[in-house]
Amino acid sequence: MKFTTPATTNPIDRLKVVGQPTVRIDGPLKTTGTAPYAYEQHEPSAGAAYGYVVGAAIAKGRIVALDVARARAAPGVLAVITAQDAGQLDVGGFYVARALAGPDIQHYHQAVALVVAETFEQARAAAQLVQPRYAATAGAFDLAAEREKIPASAPVPPARASAVGDFDGTFANAEVTVDQMYTTPHHAHAMLEPHATIAAWDGDKLTLWTAIQLVGWGLRDIAKILGIPQQNVRIVAPYIGGGFGGKGSILSDAVLAALAAKRVGRPVKVTLQRPLMFNNTTHRASTIQRIRLGATKAGMLTAIGHESWSGNLGDRPEASTAPTRLLYAGANRMTKLVVAHLDLPEASAMRAPGEMPGMMTLEIAMDELAEKLGMDPVALRVLNDTQVDPESPDKPFSQRQLVACLQRGAEQFGWNRRSARPATRREGRWLIGMGMASAIRGAPVVKSAARVRLAKNGRLTVETDMTDIGTGTYTILAQTAAEMLGVGLDQVDVRLGDSRFPQGAGSGGQFGAASSTAGVYAACVKLREQVAARLGYNGSDVEFANGRVRAGGNSRPLLDAVAAGELAGEDAMEYGDLSKRFAQQTFGAHFVEVAVDADTGEIRIRRMLAVCAAGRIINPTAARSQIIGAMTMGAGAALMEDLVVDKRAGYFVNHDLAGYEVPVHADIPHQDVVFLDEVDATAGPLKAKGVGELGITGVPAAIANAVYNATGIRVRDYPITLDKLLDRLP
Ligand code: MOS
Repeated sequence: MKFTTPATTNPIDRLKVVGQPTVRIDGPLKTTGTAPYAYEQHEPSAGAAYGYVVGAAIAKGRIVALDVARARAAPGVLAVITAQDAGQLDVGGFYVARALAGPDIQHYHQAVALVVAETFEQARAAAQLVQPRYAATAGAFDLAAEREKIPASAPVPPARASAVGDFDGTFANAEVTVDQMYTTPHHAHAMLEPHATIAAWDGDKLTLWTAIQLVGWGLRDIAKILGIPQQNVRIVAPYIGGGFGGKGSILSDAVLAALAAKRVGRPVKVTLQRPLMFNNTTHRASTIQRIRLGATKAGMLTAIGHESWSGNLGDRPEASTAPTRLLYAGANRMTKLVVAHLDLPEASAMRAPGEMPGMMTLEIAMDELAEKLGMDPVALRVLNDTQVDPESPDKPFSQRQLVACLQRGAEQFGWNRRSARPATRREGRWLIGMGMASAIRGAPVVKSAARVRLAKNGRLTVETDMTDIGTGTYTILAQTAAEMLGVGLDQVDVRLGDSRFPQGAGSGGQFGAASSTAGVYAACVKLREQVAARLGYNGSDVEFANGRVRAGGNSRPLLDAVAAGELAGEDAMEYGDLSKRFAQQTFGAHFVEVAVDADTGEIRIRRMLAVCAAGRIINPTAARSQIIGAMTMGAGAALMEDLVVDKRAGYFVNHDLAGYEVPVHADIPHQDVVFLDEVDATAGPLKAKGVGELGITGVPAAIANAVYNATGIRVRDYPITLDKLLDRLP
């Protein structure tokens, strides 16, 4: 099915199931611990051996000698796999986190060996006996130092820069300006479930039970790395304990489990031990950013400049300028993304890549501009709204309710109680402040396929290799199928994350919800046609409701259609050029109240509110959870998360969950989420957009602005830890 023109009225619009707050259909499995995650799959676990990864102890250099004799002789050991005997692995030029190192080492904790043994404990014990000798060489580990080596005039590929009007001239002559540098540190995904895989071979056919966000990417990548046909691989990933971008595709656990299973001739289980994950796998790149804003005295933006320097994500930069290119009006603009190559572990996508680090800085700069103008920060943003893409004025936003988000949020939060002058509100030892920021994140849709079967007993089963990484996919796909076939949610089963099912969108880029429901919609259209044909209804005005099918004045039970046997509809939704004609984005506004201890600088978030506009909200319960989780992660980025580089040795020092601290919901007493009414007919047949990544953008800046409002201290280097406040507290 092809989606080429904005959606008109369709069966989803009845909203009997879609759009209703719905608890997760997989909830009981999760809360009883019976949903099998990759490492826990019973069937392949029987008779499986265990692999344990040995990570490199240098960041860059060579393995001079690798003595595995003692490890091989240790109790229970079945094999020790190293680059010397693993055969050729094609990991491409960049994706070194998937590789087995040797003789060259590309980053710290890159796998140098996998020890395979009868038990996990034996594999772990023997791993300590692997004795590598290294020759380390110097590497580039410090973004700031590398940035200084890049001449300002160094050319940037056209796709990494944008220019509209005369930025330099306008900025130089602007009545009010902000010109500031900001930094954001490296971040770790720190998902609950570690990377884990069970691999099993049947002849030349490989099955991977693995934790992966995009099954299709996994098939493509593991086939390429191992040099086997894609159709010889099956990936099974029904439950995934969080990913946040870190489980996009294949990582070392899957590659090594596959190699080991082949070697020992039985299934092998590999999970990455938590302290290895931070350096062995991927992370969000740190950035250095310069923001320049020029405005009239009345607050109209006339010049917007945003430059960002980062390490490389594969061959790409962190796209921090993405939100700046779209968020505010202003006739003269420039953006630039510069890569400084670093010899750190591979950087990759992490929740709202681009928008997240970009909004961390842009939205502080807007707060600084508002203060210089003597203007309310909400009013400044409202004044500079645009309903067209500021870089392509003939391209309107499909929907853009940023102003409504800002105004609703200000009203509901009690923004008028904020004191415009910083450090003026005090409750005992606590300095109280409020801050706010906008939120923006793209709303892409990608091809997604599904099959929907109607069994003789009337049960509907949805099958797609789409994943549920904790986001609620099972439930929204069940809602979609129930609505389309006019049955209750309790009549629908959903089976996900198996590459034997039609290929779904996968979870990533905030495209999962809109894309995968559209795929199920397309499959349901096919199924409805078959049902109608069986019942002898032709024509297009067939209605499915309350377990019955109506057409022309006739009505028959849906079950009648399957009396003669099961029916199945299968299709994919594909897209035309609506994304070229419309800027498709999601918007929001964040409001935060903090209290800062006047003596110690300790920061407490007291209240947070997010107001979001993101198309039709398919399941308000799950969407609210997505936003709450994102706000909590935003609080982490603002106040706690800092993957610290040892700039001499070139590795992340705090590589465990004791040293890399993340907040939880209980750290923030009051979080509220409002979704504005919206349907976006350009987004797909459900008129819905994703929300998972929207909720994090802007949050750290709103918190930074609240800390400034409380204390009068402007921190431009994240995270805002109390040492950055201590000597400047009022
Ligand atoms: Mo996401 S960071 O695009 O999985």
